[in-house]
Amino acid sequence: MKPLQTLSLALVTSLLPILTFAQLTPSPTYSPPSATAGLASSSSTPNTQWSNVLGNSLWFYDAQRSGKLDQGTYGNRVSWRNDSALQDGSDWGLDLTGGWYDAGDYIKATFPLGFTLFAIAWGAVTHGHGYDLANQAAYLDGTLRWGLDWLIKCHPQDDVLFVQVGNSDVDNAYWGGDQNIPNPRPAYPVNSSAPGTDVWASTSSAFSMASLLYTSNPSYNVTSSAAAPSGIANGTYASTLLSHAKTLYSVANSTSQSTFSESVPAVASAYSSSGYGDDLALAALSLALVTNSSTYYADAYRWYKNYSLSGTHAVWNWDSRTPALYVLFAEAATARPGLATGAGLATNLTGWQYEAEGWFDKIINGTLKNAYLTDGRLLYWSGDSDEASLNPAMAAAMLMFKYAPLASSSSKTAQYNSFAQSQLDYLMGKNPMNGEPRAIARTSLLIWSLFLASSSHSAAIYLVGQHPNSPQNPHSAMAAGGTNINDIRNSPPTEAHVLYGAMVGGPLANDRFWDWRDDWVQTEVALDYNAMIPTLAAMQLVNGTSDPYYVNVQAGTYSIPSGQPCDAALPCSNRLSGGAIAGIVVGIIVFLLLLAGLIWWRRKHIAARWRKRGV
Ligand SMILES: *[C@@H]1O[C@H](CO)[C@@H](O)[C@H](O)[C@H]1NC(C)=O
Ligand SMILES: *[C@@H]1O[C@H](CO)[C@@H](O)[C@H](O)[C@H]1NC(C)=O
Ligand SMILES: *[C@@H]1O[C@H](CO)[C@@H](O)[C@H](O)[C@H]1NC(C)=O
Ligand SMILES: *[C@@H]1O[C@H](CO)[C@@H](O)[C@H](O)[C@H]1NC(C)=O
Ligand SMILES: *[C@@H]1O[C@H](CO)[C@@H](O)[C@H](O)[C@H]1NC(C)=O
Ligand SMILES: *[C@@H]1O[C@H](CO)[C@@H](O)[C@H](O)[C@H]1NC(C)=O
Ligand SMILES: *[C@@H]1O[C@H](CO)[C@@H](O)[C@H](O)[C@H]1NC(C)=O
Ligand SMILES: *[C@@H]1O[C@H](CO)[C@@H](O)[C@H](O)[C@H]1NC(C)=O
Ligand SMILES: *[C@@H]1O[C@H](CO)[C@@H](O)[C@H](O)[C@H]1NC(C)=O
Ligand SMILES: *[C@@H]1O[C@H](CO)[C@@H](O)[C@H](O)[C@H]1NC(C)=O
Repeated sequence: MKPLQTLSLALVTSLLPILTFAQLTPSPTYSPPSATAGLASSSSTPNTQWSNVLGNSLWFYDAQRSGKLDQGTYGNRVSWRNDSALQDGSDWGLDLTGGWYDAGDYIKATFPLGFTLFAIAWGAVTHGHGYDLANQAAYLDGTLRWGLDWLIKCHPQDDVLFVQVGNSDVDNAYWGGDQNIPNPRPAYPVNSSAPGTDVWASTSSAFSMASLLYTSNPSYNVTSSAAAPSGIANGTYASTLLSHAKTLYSVANSTSQSTFSESVPAVASAYSSSGYGDDLALAALSLALVTNSSTYYADAYRWYKNYSLSGTHAVWNWDSRTPALYVLFAEAATARPGLATGAGLATNLTGWQYEAEGWFDKIINGTLKNAYLTDGRLLYWSGDSDEASLNPAMAAAMLMFKYAPLASSSSKTAQYNSFAQSQLDYLMGKNPMNGEPRAIARTSLLIWSLFLASSSHSAAIYLVGQHPNSPQNPHSAMAAGGTNINDIRNSPPTEAHVLYGAMVGGPLANDRFWDWRDDWVQTEVALDYNAMIPTLAAMQLVNGTSDPYYVNVQAGTYSIPSGQPCDAALPCSNRLSGGAIAGIVVGIIVFLLLLAGLIWWRRKHIAARWRKRGV
């Protein structure tokens, strides 16, 4: 063989691994360990427990997969799942198979998915090193692609975006495994004549943030250590994602505006969106970051002003993106200062710090309207947290951790880190899931502390399969293994499969948690509920901190509270609601006032009568 040929052969061989393995391949592979593994303190660096939290939280997304499972970067790793819903899209002559089931049921929903993918990608853009430390970068790649590739299928024409597959009424009438999912499963699009400004924009921002993640050397230098996972960069994929992001935003920016749930009433019962100003601003800002184009930045700022997004008291969730905007604008002012000046605006890091810190400080000092800390110190929004309490708290924690290094003072940095940590600790078992704390707490601080001391090992760890005290009964039709919709709680008595890594809805405002499968408020799982967990775990890994709180929690000491939950899933019909009680109290007061008025008005008459009698 001639030397030249040897050389070229060597070159080809050295390129082979790259050509064969199109995307990242897991090495080593990861499967969730049994829950008892959560009892062991990790003495290694990186922390094994946080690596498991990260690994499990991504594994949950694999368990939610729809379509042909043995595809994607690494195939199917959930042995008890089967291919399903293989006709999705056929009513439109399209292939809309794939993607994920949204929650404990079997619909596929685009709007909350955009929130989920945005949150995961945004966390990975700055805390990617955590995925490297846990050997989870390939699973991140596989997870994101599974969601994004489905969104690409859902976007077959510039203005056409499928927003839901499956009908909620049909779906809500079914409880069972993945082999008998009821048909028909219609697919619902938005388009120019039935616009979905919010869902176009939301999906655009997910594509943009993921495109930034897949860009090589994005120079997103928000902090000195900000980095994407090594090896995830892929220019081809980044530009595919970007082109979908641009088209969707352009359609949203140039079509008459409406929420998708107004345009397509058939999907409103699953996710009904309340507006699109926040979605438009986030989409424009995300595009600005990935393209470096000040035109998008000017749009983002215009939406921000026009929709008066300053000073919100709202939660960060699928229907409310504004708190994330404050942090993203602060990141933009740090990593891309030229964007604002290019649009003729001030970079104004101080201004964005003021916005972000206004939201955080009010949370911490208890002046954020409608939000408060429970007795057990979980951040709780009246209304938003009533139907799933943990997600809003974890969302605030992710924003605080992410923003903390950009804060205007080191004391604020410390405050935000510590508050965020307290929320994460609550999730991981630093909580009073142990009986009847409220009355006692109110009566006496001393008794309260004795109470805590005597039961400090009683706690719930709200990630399924993470610890022996994790919920055993997540509301998931796939994992439950039952088929009797009239006895979801007890049939079968034991959940058939462990849905590792799923964060449940969470405890009620009294910090109590009923691990009942039919109580969807407390035990349901969902793509968007879980969206912050991978980032929170990656952050802990990057920081090299200690174990998750749960390693301190003894096994087997948590029990179902006495009494009834009285929540939206299991309302207490024999108990008056707060509104009814208030109504009765007001009624009694009005009656007494009227009576007093009547007596005053007729006082002479009454006095005369009394005098007559007395005589
Ligand atoms: C990059 O992504 C594209 C699109 O998914 C894929 O076809 C290609 O194999 C990937 N390339 C590498 C080197 O991973
Ligand atoms: C998958 O199929 C197997 C075999 O039919 C069945 O036992 C199992 O319950 C199915 N899984 C789900 C989630 O329904
Ligand atoms: C546009 O979307 C609406 C709402 O989903 C749908 O009824 C209509 O058929 C769609 N139009 C076209 C041309 O696909
Ligand atoms: C965007 O700007 C940054 C510097 O601010 C630069 O490093 C990066 O390469 C630019 N990205 C693009 C896509 O032009
Ligand atoms: C941003 O960070 C990357 C790598 O972390 C580095 O190569 C680059 O020089 C940094 N850019 C700036 C403007 O600091
Ligand atoms: C969005 O629309 C406005 C008003 O039509 C226009 O000024 C702006 O340039 C558009 N944005 C982009 C990125 O095209
Ligand atoms: C500005 O916001 C108002 C609602 O606050 C809306 O009616 C109006 O259409 C918006 N204008 C633009 C250009 O987006
Ligand atoms: C900077 O932001 C603050 C707070 O939003 C605002 O009051 C101020 O006018 C902004 N300054 C400039 C120069 O845009
Ligand atoms: C709470 O924080 C907000 C935002 O920084 C501030 O305006 C307010 O004065 C603070 N209130 C108290 C009681 O500390
Ligand atoms: C990182 O560690 C510091 C010091 O231990 C701590 O204050 C901070 O909360 C940690 N940050 C994160 C994101 O975990």
